[in-house]
Amino acid sequence: MKKDFLTILDMSRQEAHDIIRRAREMKDSSHRSSILKDKTFVLIFEKASTRTKVSFEVGIRHLGGHYVFMTSRESQLGRSEPLKDTARVLSRYADGLIVRTFGQAKLEELSRYSSIPVINALTDDYHPCQVMSDLLTISEHAPSFEDLTISWVGDGNNMANSWINAAIYFPFKLRMAFPEGYEPNSNVLEAAWNRGADIVVTHDPAEAVRGAHFVNTDVWASMGQEQDKIERALAFKGFTVDDKLLKWADDRVRVMHCLPAYRGQEISDQAIEGDRSIVWDQAENRLHMQKAILEWVVSPG
Ligand code: CP
Ligand code: NVA
Repeated sequence: MKKDFLTILDMSRQEAHDIIRRAREMKDSSHRSSILKDKTFVLIFEKASTRTKVSFEVGIRHLGGHYVFMTSRESQLGRSEPLKDTARVLSRYADGLIVRTFGQAKLEELSRYSSIPVINALTDDYHPCQVMSDLLTISEHAPSFEDLTISWVGDGNNMANSWINAAIYFPFKLRMAFPEGYEPNSNVLEAAWNRGADIVVTHDPAEAVRGAHFVNTDVWASMGQEQDKIERALAFKGFTVDDKLLKWADDRVRVMHCLPAYRGQEISDQAIEGDRSIVWDQAENRLHMQKAILEWVVSPG
């Protein structure tokens, strides 16, 4: 059966832990292989990307494979060719799809009609490759996931939902602050609580950051929400990750952002440029994690 990676929960708990170890091994050994020899992945990107696009393309080359990059604008998708038709056609040419799109339902439809694996390169709802990569980064800065407090300060967006998924599989405390009206998907949250995840949700950023070892944030207006930028900037007042907020955190706190960042909005220039920032490690680790995910997707079992 083909393996998809549409959310972190498509992996088992064991696989998610193993993939972090594997990505670390790959990073330490500057891993190259021919596991994707004669295989082609099609990247379908309906939104902009720097890190995800380039790290997948480079990662595929490191594993000996090929890729084709396509956007909706330059393909028949932009002229409303149904996704289910695109999925069936591309399944006849290629060995996997890596897709950045809007609603998760679109990705699920692609997956349903594809006979080849589908990887989520970001939807409005989830960003699983990024959060797996962020867990890799955290594993480099902390001895274990036990006794760790990870904070989320900002929007209840795709990144927040993937962090909530991750809290089911990894034993950290997740403390999340959102402005009222910008909370994450309540079904995603309920499901995580029902599965024992230690997550507290508040509207107070200081409460979420208290004692935190890692503080995460992300843009206030995600791709596709540009028209709400001004309204959101007002609603998110007080949610900037800056030195004042970080005073509540653990003395050795690390600051995280998946990038792209808007300085002076969700994060201050000092916080992103300062000694506590690990954003460049996060960006690098995208490459190592993409390789581990690709290897998992094509491996039997
Ligand atoms: N963090 C991330 O996914 O970046 P890109 O939008 O540049 O791919
Ligand atoms: N939440 C952001 C993440 C960008 C990598 C967005 O969807 O635009």
